[in-house]
Amino acid sequence: MSVTQSLITLPPDLEPSKIPRHVAVIMDGNGRWAKKRGLPRILGHQRGVDTLKDLLRCCDDWGLEVLTAYAFSTENWGRPRPEVEFLMTLFERVLKHELKEMMEKNVRIRFVGDLTILPDSLQKEIAHAMDETSQNEGIQFNVATNYGSRQEILHACRAIALQVQQGKIEVGDINESLFESHLYTGGVINPDLLIRTSGEMRLSNFLLWQMAYGEMYVTHTLWPDFNRQEFHQALLNYQKRDRRFGKVNDSDN
Ligand code: IPE
Ligand code: IPE
Ligand code: MG
Repeated sequence: MSVTQSLITLPPDLEPSKIPRHVAVIMDGNGRWAKKRGLPRILGHQRGVDTLKDLLRCCDDWGLEVLTAYAFSTENWGRPRPEVEFLMTLFERVLKHELKEMMEKNVRIRFVGDLTILPDSLQKEIAHAMDETSQNEGIQFNVATNYGSRQEILHACRAIALQVQQGKIEVGDINESLFESHLYTGGVINPDLLIRTSGEMRLSNFLLWQMAYGEMYVTHTLWPDFNRQEFHQALLNYQKRDRRFGKVNDSDN
């Protein structure tokens, strides 16, 4: 979508020059949403997919560059087996179903996390979707699947240690940008804003390195109920923030 088109759909009270380039979301509260309605947890996950699809469209409409969604953590394997199996099947089904629209909308999808232990059929679908959309130049959509920040950091440490061991680089060559390039998110700008639904005030092993200076917004709304109006509120709140990055403002001098 062109810049002019985005500006047409952007709510007038949002300042176009202060739209975050990268928003990350911890899509939490699917289980509680279902429980409140006396439904099985998996129906909450099912409904959560619609919320994510609409958020991706909205981010595209409003001119964001990157959306990163936390879909499954390294700790989520500890859930009851039927729930885990449902989620794996759901990811595969959604990916198959949504590829056409992602191509039409010029979305570039990327999965971040350790994908090697996901079911084979899901790995194939992921590889296919990443490959098909790799040349798209619209919004980048990162899906964190079997993602854990601690594991990601260790993975980067091992890769760098191996390069030192093989004499390809020196210890003194290790700096922030080299380290960052070895994270699953390598090459992606850090999130400007992280939104977590369902009220929990924690990162739950999500983007620990990348969120060093990212802004956080927590809403009590459960993920399946999150919508454009809520996203609009989050962006309005974000636009009022004073991002100092450890410095002082000229006006405070
Ligand atoms: C988030 O919703 C989705 C995943 C972790 C896959 P939850 O399933 O954690 O929902 P709650 O937190 O139990 O309500
Ligand atoms: C974080 O939510 C993981 C995802 C949204 C995929 P959790 O529900 O797993 O996190 P905790 O257990 O509340 O910390
Ligand atoms: Mg949860």
